Amino acid sequence: MPDIAFPDTIDGRSLRDCCGRFATGVTVITTRTPEGDHGMTVSAFMSVSLTPPLICISVNSRSRLLPKVLVSGRYAVNILSDTMHDHALHFAGRPNEALTNLFREQHGLPVLRAAAAILVADIVQQVEAGDHVLLVGHVRYLDSDPAAKPLVYHAGQFRGLLL
Ligand SMILES: Cc1cc2nc3c(=O)[nH]c(=O)nc-3n(C[C@H](O)[C@H](O)[C@H](O)COP(=O)(O)O)c2cc1C
Repeated sequence: MPDIAFPDTIDGRSLRDCCGRFATGVTVITTRTPEGDHGMTVSAFMSVSLTPPLICISVNSRSRLLPKVLVSGRYAVNILSDTMHDHALHFAGRPNEALTNLFREQHGLPVLRAAAAILVADIVQQVEAGDHVLLVGHVRYLDSDPAAKPLVYHAGQFRGLLL
């Protein structure tokens, strides 16, 4: 009897729509190489471990960020506040010339001045996962503004919290 090949019935659009029902925050991942600074909007961020302090991001294998962050070996997670919708689009391939003087330096990396919170991490593990790469980072520095309200991403739309 030949093996019966079961086709993969989960198409990308359905997976994206279904996972999009999970509300997330929005971050911009920044890094620095000898060629310059780079930032990319990422919602796939999570905390992983408290001891040691580990976080994780999921980065598309075809993004410009990936080779840069691997050269750097470090990244900063800039958690966006609800006033930073334009930053989210700017770092997702829709450049906005009105946004200037965005960065300051922290622990040798560029970070967004207006971010609600910042974590700077060294990459300690890299896992290829389909068309993305998971980058586990050891947190070396963090800072947050307790008064900032988060930017929320849900079902393809940016929102704020009602609370
Ligand atoms: C709200 C939002 C969330 C996103 N989340 C991710 C993500 O988690 N991982 C990822 O690889 N791309 C994500 N993207 C897409 C990248 O931001 C986008 O493809 C970007 O232009 C790639 O930048 P680069 O190739 O210049 O590095 C997201 C985009 C948006 C608008």
